[in-house]
Amino acid sequence: MDYQAPRGTQDILPEDQSCWRYVRDKAEAIAQLYGYARIDTPTFEDARLFTRTVGEETDIVTKEMYTFADRGGSDLTLRPEGTAPVCRAYIEHGMASRAKPVKLFYLASIFRYDRPQAGRYREHHQFGFELFGEADAPADAEVIEMAWRFYRELGLTTLPVQVNSIGCPECRPMFVAALKEYYTNRLEGLCTDCKARYQKNPLRLLDCKKPECRAAALMAPHPVDSLCSGCRVHFDKLMTLLNHVGLPFEVNHHLVRGLDYYSRTVFEIQPAEEGAQSTIGGGGRYDGLIGQLGGEHTPAVGFATGIERIIINLKRQNVAVPMMPTPRFFIAWLGDAAGLAAFSLTAVLRQAGINLVQSLSARSLKAQLRQASSLGAEYALIIGDSEISKQEVLLRDLVRSTQRSLPLEGIVESLRSI
Ligand code: HAM
Repeated sequence: MDYQAPRGTQDILPEDQSCWRYVRDKAEAIAQLYGYARIDTPTFEDARLFTRTVGEETDIVTKEMYTFADRGGSDLTLRPEGTAPVCRAYIEHGMASRAKPVKLFYLASIFRYDRPQAGRYREHHQFGFELFGEADAPADAEVIEMAWRFYRELGLTTLPVQVNSIGCPECRPMFVAALKEYYTNRLEGLCTDCKARYQKNPLRLLDCKKPECRAAALMAPHPVDSLCSGCRVHFDKLMTLLNHVGLPFEVNHHLVRGLDYYSRTVFEIQPAEEGAQSTIGGGGRYDGLIGQLGGEHTPAVGFATGIERIIINLKRQNVAVPMMPTPRFFIAWLGDAAGLAAFSLTAVLRQAGINLVQSLSARSLKAQLRQASSLGAEYALIIGDSEISKQEVLLRDLVRSTQRSLPLEGIVESLRSI
């Protein structure tokens, strides 16, 4: 075949849909439980929306965005994350005037020109939720608790939530200065990316996974040690709240996240299963983002999780997922007259909301019953010339291999009562 799905993308086949539906249903249910309303934003946006918010020096902006000029010459980018578009929509639709907090969630495809591997795709899907208009720690705690509960509701076991505070625009420069001072004499041993990060994005020196960089990061100063009093109180309050609800968490001093818009709280969740693609979800507070996009200052906090990674972990952890319903009835027929009768009976039953499949070609009864079983039908309704003359159908139980006649009159009620 000449064509394949583009590298890093996947088809979601009918047999995969049970898992997808399970995750989406749970996402919608938890969003409703916590009072979030759904928002859908366009698949592409003005490229500047992401360069300005996600950060000029981040991997997403420098290496991973799908940006193109359209025929009108506008620079557009396929959404590489969901938070900035939701903030753009929040401002554009004057949501600041709504009762606070404004809580919005999305289920959306996300595009990143990443190096494809298990659990890392160029198109993936996220469930995300964003809370606007609350500056205090209970909002952060509720978002973290909701994220954690979501995985629990799915039946996944996860490691303790990792939390950290990276401070605010007032205290972070102090931390960055301390960090750069620490690294001044250690640059030689770092990977090429980290050498560049030292200049452009020093916070990310802390979470580089390369062995040569991990050793240096181990002794590096911690962001929490440079917090101003406001950020310190916020972080302490968050930890008190998480302890109070018994949520398992640990402070990870190296957690900084890969997007520039965060302030104060950042957090991530990893599956418990050994060897699974590490992070399944992450988020944090981003109090400056709405203001940066031209809206009035609005504190905000949110979270997003990758659906493909959730599904990988559901499979690894052997979580039983409800199967998609199969048609209960199959209509089989023999002979031209029966074919016509079957066609109109199918229409009548569907009109009544009865879920069924009809045979669409004249094949042997054996072949039709084989088809019925492979589609997962429980019963076959068989029509031949003799059934037409008696105004009935033969109802065959495909599981128990029994059969009986059923009058056509009142058939809708009869089938509903089975
Ligand atoms: P993120 O950590 O970049 O955060 O992405 C969230 C989740 O999307 C990740 O934890 C992971 O499960 C999934 N993910 C990311 N990249 C890929 C990929 N290439 N293939 C498969 N799955 C992937 C954000 O995007 C922020 N907008 C989260 C947020 C919401 N912060 C505040 N509100």
